[in-house]
Amino acid sequence: MSLLFSPLALRHQTLSNRLVVSPMCQYSALDGFATHWHLVHLGQFAIAKAGLIIQEATSVVAEGRISYGDLGLWKDEHMAPLKDIVDFVHGQGGLIGIQLAHAGRKASTDKPWISRAQIAPDEPNGWQTVAPSPIPYYPQENPPIALDIVEIKKIIDAFRLATVRAIEIGYDVIELHAAHGYLIHQFLSPLTNQRTDEYGGSFENRIRFLLDIITAIWPAMENRSLWVRISATDWAEGGWNLEESVELVKIMKTMGVEVVDVSSGGAVRHQEITVKENYQVPFAQRIKEDTGLLTGTVGLIKNAKQAEQIIEQNQADIILIGRGFLQNPHLVLQFAHELKVDIPWVSQYARGKETL
Ligand SMILES: Cc1cc2nc3c(=O)[nH]c(=O)nc-3n(C[C@H](O)[C@H](O)[C@H](O)COP(=O)(O)O)c2cc1C
Repeated sequence: MSLLFSPLALRHQTLSNRLVVSPMCQYSALDGFATHWHLVHLGQFAIAKAGLIIQEATSVVAEGRISYGDLGLWKDEHMAPLKDIVDFVHGQGGLIGIQLAHAGRKASTDKPWISRAQIAPDEPNGWQTVAPSPIPYYPQENPPIALDIVEIKKIIDAFRLATVRAIEIGYDVIELHAAHGYLIHQFLSPLTNQRTDEYGGSFENRIRFLLDIITAIWPAMENRSLWVRISATDWAEGGWNLEESVELVKIMKTMGVEVVDVSSGGAVRHQEITVKENYQVPFAQRIKEDTGLLTGTVGLIKNAKQAEQIIEQNQADIILIGRGFLQNPHLVLQFAHELKVDIPWVSQYARGKETL
């Protein structure tokens, strides 16, 4: 029996298997609006029976986008094309989550296939970035403006409003993006947060922004599932670390967060990561063991046996895969075949199964 293909019951939803499409920016939105690209891109994973699809980082304010091609949910008008996607996935019997995000100092970039550089505020498609402290990611970049308390509260409220919209659209899971060096992570890490007010300094102060967001959105969550993606470590001296991650997750568990999605890195340029298969699994395992919260793991999980083993050995409850799904959008069907698990294919594709 495959554990990877066993269902996972959350409080209000049940994933039909443990394979989740990791959020992946497509840089294909127009003024924050989803396009046909997003419908086809996300829809194909529902056709191929992913346990859950998490939509790319979707910004709660215009200046929170990584690039001008990012999705947004800062106005009601953004809702209609997103609802088409959610309705399609639900029509296939699937589940879909949305990753709510703000890029902070890592915002205002070009689309990566054009350039990875930041766009200056006075250039087309660029804008002034914000952050906990006025420290740029690259020294040559235009520095972010340090947020004052009023602006911090406005961003917290933008997360709340985006959540209200996401729930109304029908997303099953809300995932907060607190990883990869984006705004929430910038508050968590002492390397990017050098504030001296109640949002900086001690561990309690650095986690306050994230906890304030959770408190603000919680009443809007209804019967949906709240997930948080964290970077378990900055991979850098003096940065956010695994011990702090464990403590944070223990607190988030008491606040209603149902799943922690464990990634790593992204805060600073001088991070030192040895990237290899399963390299982030030990972080997930430690967090799962110490907190008892449902835990997802991600990063270079490339084949079915590897994924099955992680679940079997109780190192994580959920497997998120990114690039594997770009290589083969029907990865779940392939993994099922490799593990000799018979899962139903959509009727329209059933004849394809005959030739396996
Ligand atoms: C094209 C692309 C876009 C990505 N965008 C996001 C994103 O929006 N949010 C996020 O948390 N991670 C993002 N990631 C990271 C993936 O979700 C995933 O964590 C990472 O690719 C490692 O998993 P993998 O080895 O299975 O690809 C992105 C990765 C890729 C390749």
